[in-house]
Amino acid sequence: MVRVGVVGCGYWGPNLIRNIYQLDCCDLAMICDADPQRLARVGKLYPGVTLTTSFQDVLDSGAVDAVVIATPARTHHAMTGQALAAGKHVLVEKPLAVTSPQCQDLISLAKQQGLVLMVGHTFLYNPALLMVKELSQPEYLGDLFYLYSHRVNLGRVQTDVNALWSIAPHDISIALFLVGQAPEKVSAQGAYYLSNQIEDVVFITLTFPGGVMGHIHVSWIDPSKTRKVTVVGSEKMIIYDDLADEGMVKVYDKGVKRVSNGEGPQYGEFQYRLHSGDVHLPRIRMTEPLANECRHFIECILENKTPTSDGENGLQVVQVLEAAQRSIELQGMPMPVASGQLQPHTVA
Ligand SMILES: NC(=O)c1ccc[n+]([C@@H]2O[C@H](COP(=O)([O-])OP(=O)(O)OC[C@H]3O[C@@H](n4cnc5c(N)ncnc54)[C@H](O)[C@@H]3O)[C@@H](O)[C@H]2O)c1
Repeated sequence: MVRVGVVGCGYWGPNLIRNIYQLDCCDLAMICDADPQRLARVGKLYPGVTLTTSFQDVLDSGAVDAVVIATPARTHHAMTGQALAAGKHVLVEKPLAVTSPQCQDLISLAKQQGLVLMVGHTFLYNPALLMVKELSQPEYLGDLFYLYSHRVNLGRVQTDVNALWSIAPHDISIALFLVGQAPEKVSAQGAYYLSNQIEDVVFITLTFPGGVMGHIHVSWIDPSKTRKVTVVGSEKMIIYDDLADEGMVKVYDKGVKRVSNGEGPQYGEFQYRLHSGDVHLPRIRMTEPLANECRHFIECILENKTPTSDGENGLQVVQVLEAAQRSIELQGMPMPVASGQLQPHTVA
């Protein structure tokens, strides 16, 4: 039985606490938040679980094997590093850290320590997205042309990170997963309206090898809540609407093919043949993505497996975020995406 301490009882932490508590394969051993009121409010739902306002208590506890970290992004590097150094497996919320050297540092430390390091890229554990991935295979979808996602809403306005770092890690991890590789270039534009220097809305364009294009729109000042991913292939087109009650994934048997009109392509005489067939709604056995994510973390610990969203995956997402941030600062100039070398660990 893996004994887990969860750190962070803010907006997201209570969801992780609930899932860790409900899983059979682990014990919720400790809950930590620096804010005593938040800690008390969440803690009273879990009588018998040790509560603390001190992260050091979690690190020092012999009754904690693994730590789940749901604190703000800027704290992830230090807290994850300290937990790994203390011999704890770590599931840390997205993004893994706020720079790629910090991510590389954590990856090295987890390797040195022989511990599991996993990032909370929740959508990789979402049965609907797994269905989209299955349907995006070339023998079904045809050639993948492009994909785009919208993750917009009115709120939650953040004051420490912009919409890129707060919301887009989801869409970037989804795009990397569906395309199956990292983009070569990223361009992004963002604007701030509510507070100085913190972008409320960001538009990102990803250029993948082979010409596949991705586009991401994130915002917390938009009129209606939208969480949608569209994948366009030569044979099929797929829309994944995370908010749909039924038919979260819709597969359109639609496409366009360029065909020769028989008079010879040397004269540029092509026609475009459209096909528009049925719309298919595959049945999805929906389970809570966060429960799947937490279970995967525990299984990786027990079975010594590498998580789907391991440190390397977290690093790839951060490399795209960094390129997008640089591009925003340069008014949308396309930026190459670094593919980082692992650095020796430097966390004290
Ligand atoms: N996977 C998702 O869908 C999803 C959704 C929302 C947020 N998140 C992620 O979850 C993380 C937390 O976001 P949030 O919106 O819950 O933030 P939040 O500000 O609402 O909560 C963070 C909590 O961490 C506590 N905290 C900060 N530093 C601490 C420390 N050193 N020791 C103990 N407690 C400390 C704060 O007191 C606060 O209660 C972020 O990384 C965010 O990106 C993920």
